Amino acid sequence: ATSGLLAGKKALVTAGGTQEPLDPVRYLGNRSSGRMGFAVAEALREAGAETILVSAPNELPTPPGVRRIAVMTAEEMHAAVMDEFAHMDIVVKAAAVADYRPLANAEQKIKKDGSSLTLELVPTPDILAECGKKKERQFLVGFAAETEKLYEHAQAKMQRKNVDMLVANDVTKPGAGFGSPTNIVSLLFPNGKKIDLPQMNKLDVARRLVQEIAERLSEKE
Ligand code: PMT
Repeated sequence: ATSGLLAGKKALVTAGGTQEPLDPVRYLGNRSSGRMGFAVAEALREAGAETILVSAPNELPTPPGVRRIAVMTAEEMHAAVMDEFAHMDIVVKAAAVADYRPLANAEQKIKKDGSSLTLELVPTPDILAECGKKKERQFLVGFAAETEKLYEHAQAKMQRKNVDMLVANDVTKPGAGFGSPTNIVSLLFPNGKKIDLPQMNKLDVARRLVQEIAERLSEKE
């Protein structure tokens, strides 16, 4: 039903959980499987958009016709997104990006010595917020993964990061968020409109997002 809706458009999606190295064998990560972002890339491509998928490490196959750029850390994801941003019409940030990384990445494997170990963490760049500052014609979609006060936190993120649509998921609900094949999301818009979607598989959620994006892009033109 979305075929051709986004023909001629260029889109970029981020997916997966970034990995922030501690030493040659360890990293700080999160539970994102990449499924949600990969589904969005597939749905954008289906709708005819030329699609780039900036992905943190995972085992998922690249959707046909999509160009994949592999990254590991938040900083690498930031660089890859910013390289492409100016040419994009649509940017969807489904990745779970580390907010902090270890200050030091030890050259050798960290050895235990029986005492406690303190890690010093430093903030990573907020990629979505930077896109929100730089955006001109781009239609910018953010996600919000929340464990409490879903609407309040999501609403605040939408404003702070200057996005055109925010996809909020309560990741404590069974069947929603990290890892599962389905998601339960609400779509928030800057004009106050809110759409609560039922539990759907991630590709169906993605197709619905594409419809909402296409409608609003054509309103902008
Ligand atoms: O990958 P799956 O297993 O399928 O799971 C899907 C998902 C739960 C990861 C996905 O639905 C989701 O919610 N993705 C966003 C996860 C997240 O990091 O949310 P956040 O509320 O911490 O971040 C808000 C937004 O800012 C996100 O669009 C995020 O990509 C972006 N961000 C965050 C931090 C940062 N340093 N840079 C960013 O761009």
